[in-house]
Amino acid sequence: MRNSTRLLKLIALFAASLMLAAAGQAGELSRGAILAASCEGCHGTGGRSPGAIPAIAGKSAEYLQETLESFRSGERPSTVMGRHVTGYSEDEIRQIAEYFSKQK
Ligand code: HEC
Repeated sequence: MRNSTRLLKLIALFAASLMLAAAGQAGELSRGAILAASCEGCHGTGGRSPGAIPAIAGKSAEYLQETLESFRSGERPSTVMGRHVTGYSEDEIRQIAEYFSKQK
């Protein structure tokens, strides 16, 4: 009984490390894509918003980065963005901006 529990734990660990390795190999762009998923609920898939929320697909990475920083500092007033953007590091914001700038 104990042995099989241990074996299961080992298998679970092995599976988890395989997934981590795959995620690592996917590289920086995919990390941007993963982070960007939290934006897409509001801004639409790939940032192509069909509704009232502004579309962000294909805007320049510089524009997106500056805009996000200005939401964070409060320089640009917002309803949700100022709060949402506090959850990301500068590097993550750069990767997210890069991801959306490459969407069409
Ligand atoms: C809960 C919904 C929601 C989420 C999640 C969200 N946004 Fe927004 N976003 C908005 C709204 C609403 C605005 C308009 C400004 C405001 O009132 O906050 C906006 C504005 C923006 C703008 C300015 C667009 C322009 O050109 O004027 C950018 C850039 C932006 N969001 C990027 C992002 C990114 C990147 C993420 C993910 C890290 C994200 N947003 C997540 C709702 C959201």
